[in-house]
Amino acid sequence: MQYASKITGIGSHFPQRVMTNQDLARELAAKGIETNDEWIVERTGIRERRISEPGNPKETNSSLALVAATRALEMAGKTVDDIDQILFATCSPDSLVPTSACWLQTKLGAKRAWALDINAACSGFVYGLAIADTFIRTGQVKTSLVIGSEVLNPMVNWDDRGSCILFGDGSGAAIVERTEAANPRRILSTHLHTDGSLWEVLYVPAGGSARPLTAELIEQKANTMHMKGKEIFKVAVKTLTDFAVTALETNGLTIKDLDWFVPHQANLRIIEAVAKRLDFPMDKVLVNIDRHGNTSAATVPTALDEAVRAGKVKPGQTVLMDVFGAGLTYGAVLARW
Ligand SMILES: CC(C)(COP(=O)(O)OP(=O)(O)OC[C@H]1O[C@@H](n2cnc3c(N)ncnc32)[C@H](O)[C@@H]1OP(=O)(O)O)[C@@H](O)C(=O)NCCC(=O)NCCS
Repeated sequence: MQYASKITGIGSHFPQRVMTNQDLARELAAKGIETNDEWIVERTGIRERRISEPGNPKETNSSLALVAATRALEMAGKTVDDIDQILFATCSPDSLVPTSACWLQTKLGAKRAWALDINAACSGFVYGLAIADTFIRTGQVKTSLVIGSEVLNPMVNWDDRGSCILFGDGSGAAIVERTEAANPRRILSTHLHTDGSLWEVLYVPAGGSARPLTAELIEQKANTMHMKGKEIFKVAVKTLTDFAVTALETNGLTIKDLDWFVPHQANLRIIEAVAKRLDFPMDKVLVNIDRHGNTSAATVPTALDEAVRAGKVKPGQTVLMDVFGAGLTYGAVLARW
């Protein structure tokens, strides 16, 4: 028997606190840093984001994922006992040891599942789907829970107006199940690529084993994200476009065959530039960056969840997920819903 994989359930969840651009501008102004709603909306498309409350056990990364996963399971008509594998994509785990996947496994009570974290930064969810698809196609796994979830708040430099405006917290989950290879409704292809030479455009200088934290490094904010926005912008537009073309061509399809485009939500101007290059209409692009900012590994599953639950994405439609992230990492998944 030849197998394929299929997304059968999707879910999302966000922390309670909404931080509008005005709220953020007020907080920065108190520190003598100037920004405003108009600049942020014009340069990024972001109007507000959700921020997890530090110390709130309901708003840790794995706790947000618990709610998203429960919603995805409900949609798929599955229970925790059906899960064979948990792939938790995040660059902001609850703790390094144990992983967020382990925390989620015990919170869910998914006793049969083996679980691990994947860190491909913003590309993590797509990497997770590709790994789940491979395990399922080789017959080793029947049902996989793939999470893309972040609590970036502690990694954001809230004194850097060039980056802190972008990020938000949130969680998305997908149930990926075995189906027959002949099923037209399946994951059609997955595409992954990494270029580690571009590490410097987005990185956290300290806090890993190569540069353990000291009080001095924390004082210097070396435990927060350092970003070269303009450099990332250019690479992102090119790679998102290239990966979309590759994914479609691999399947003998053209852009006219695509029903929904789900790009990583890092900046609305990046998304618009890619849609223009692909000659794809913006009303068929799933966008949630206006309300959530860049939630890293969570952007694609949360945007998809909203659209599926709103009845936009319908059975049999062709959906392209297309991402880039720190590393740099890139990836795409083409699926027939
Ligand atoms: C970060 C980003 C929004 C900056 O937008 P930009 O148009 O490139 O803006 P610049 O950095 O060139 O800054 C333009 C001006 O606005 C200022 N500025 C920067 N942030 C500002 C803010 N929050 N409010 C007001 N002004 C700001 C800059 O100081 C600069 O002023 P100057 O011309 O007097 O020097 C944009 O480059 C971006 O989104 N890049 C991609 C980042 C990304 O995808 N990261 C995640 C990867 S997964």
